[in-house]
Amino acid sequence: MTNQPEIRTALPGPKAKALIDRDKTVVSPSYTRGYPLVIERGWGAMVEDVDGNVFLDCAAGIAVNSTGHSHPDVVRAITEQAQKFLHMSGTDFYYEPQVRLAEELAAIAPMRGGVRSFFGNSGTEAIEACIKLSRHTTGRQNIIAFLGGFHGRSMGSLALTASKAIQRRGFGPLLPGVYHAPYPDTYRCPLGSTAESCADACVDYIEHELFTHLVSPDEVAAIVVEPIQGEGGYIVAPDGFLQRLRELTTRHGILLVVDEVQSGMGRSGKMFAVEFSGVEPDLVAIAKGIASGLPLGVTVARAGLMAWPPGAHASTFGGNPVSCAAALATIRLLRDGIVRNVVDVGAHMMAGLKALAGKHPLIGDVRGRGLMIGVELVRDRQTKERAIEERDAIVSACFARGLLVLGAGKNAIRFSPPLVLTREQADTAIAIFDQALTDVARSRR
Ligand SMILES: Cc1ncc(COP(=O)(O)O)c(C=O)c1O
Repeated sequence: MTNQPEIRTALPGPKAKALIDRDKTVVSPSYTRGYPLVIERGWGAMVEDVDGNVFLDCAAGIAVNSTGHSHPDVVRAITEQAQKFLHMSGTDFYYEPQVRLAEELAAIAPMRGGVRSFFGNSGTEAIEACIKLSRHTTGRQNIIAFLGGFHGRSMGSLALTASKAIQRRGFGPLLPGVYHAPYPDTYRCPLGSTAESCADACVDYIEHELFTHLVSPDEVAAIVVEPIQGEGGYIVAPDGFLQRLRELTTRHGILLVVDEVQSGMGRSGKMFAVEFSGVEPDLVAIAKGIASGLPLGVTVARAGLMAWPPGAHASTFGGNPVSCAAALATIRLLRDGIVRNVVDVGAHMMAGLKALAGKHPLIGDVRGRGLMIGVELVRDRQTKERAIEERDAIVSACFARGLLVLGAGKNAIRFSPPLVLTREQADTAIAIFDQALTDVARSRR
């Protein structure tokens, strides 16, 4: 099986086109397909479509396939568990994979002193459980989240989500008592701040604007934050931001919830991105990469906080035994070398992408951690005018040349490959991206 992209047909090929035509009439039109990829199978960081075209995958099913496509250890764990039993509902009965996974999560959680885990099926459910537990345990109602943040699309998490207006349009009224503060984007500093003062300015906004004019801190249950904004454009919180949030929340008895749905499970180069700050949160939301592609969402909380009584919260499918088996195999692989690979290949890829900025004026900013890298595209480096159409054209040009990437935010491209990506594959991705930038710059002249 090849490790290089190979495009053999016009895209989409005949079989892909036929399937897309069928999809159009029967599948929800709310999905946001940027280009016509119809997958047949995958291995490592490679994907083959139904017409035999092979792509290098730097999207990983929206930052999910952490151990690569169909890693043999994960497939074995899934198969072995599937042969024993598929479901029993961990909310009403007991089974070992769920307990073992909770023990493993306790060992890797970014907080000391013991934790408990609640199991759901997705990122949005992990956030719903964070919202419910925060309200339940504090007896307070209000939540603070950040502009640009994405936390899911069910009604509670959607109230926190402030990424794109289309995601909320037509669905209100949403959960009341949610307030949004600016996120410290050091490339586009909010509130008239600079890259150096950005973190302080955003926390000051909560302390001096929200707490003064809108909500009393003693009525705030939680502050929910992504250590690296994902859908918002792969924006890394600068030094000091999470530390100041921790200090503020502790001072007012507010819970600090970190949403590691996208940044967690090794993608940043540490198991959880919050670890870069040294901050210990109260709750962590995990999903996406945890089970290499099987559905699983987990809310991990300090043990003392997760003290709700039987019946307070549960999910029929949450903590499915096959997903738990996949997660256990995934965590083992991450610990046994994949996170180290993220540090190595992530640094290599970051350097390569930064070097491209020297020859492509469209590149305004390259940022991220590990294999969570965003490239923001601008029409003018001085004015930072967003290159939105160019971004979309570059994503399509990458696809045409055999590289799968996704957009993030208004005008950024994210590189979120399977964490098993090799240096050689990173070089291939950079070379194709380079060509795609050239194609699009030339077509716009
Ligand atoms: C940071 C973050 N939180 C929550 C979610 C929601 O996860 P899901 O789509 O599994 O519900 C996402 C999805 O992209 C995310 O990136």
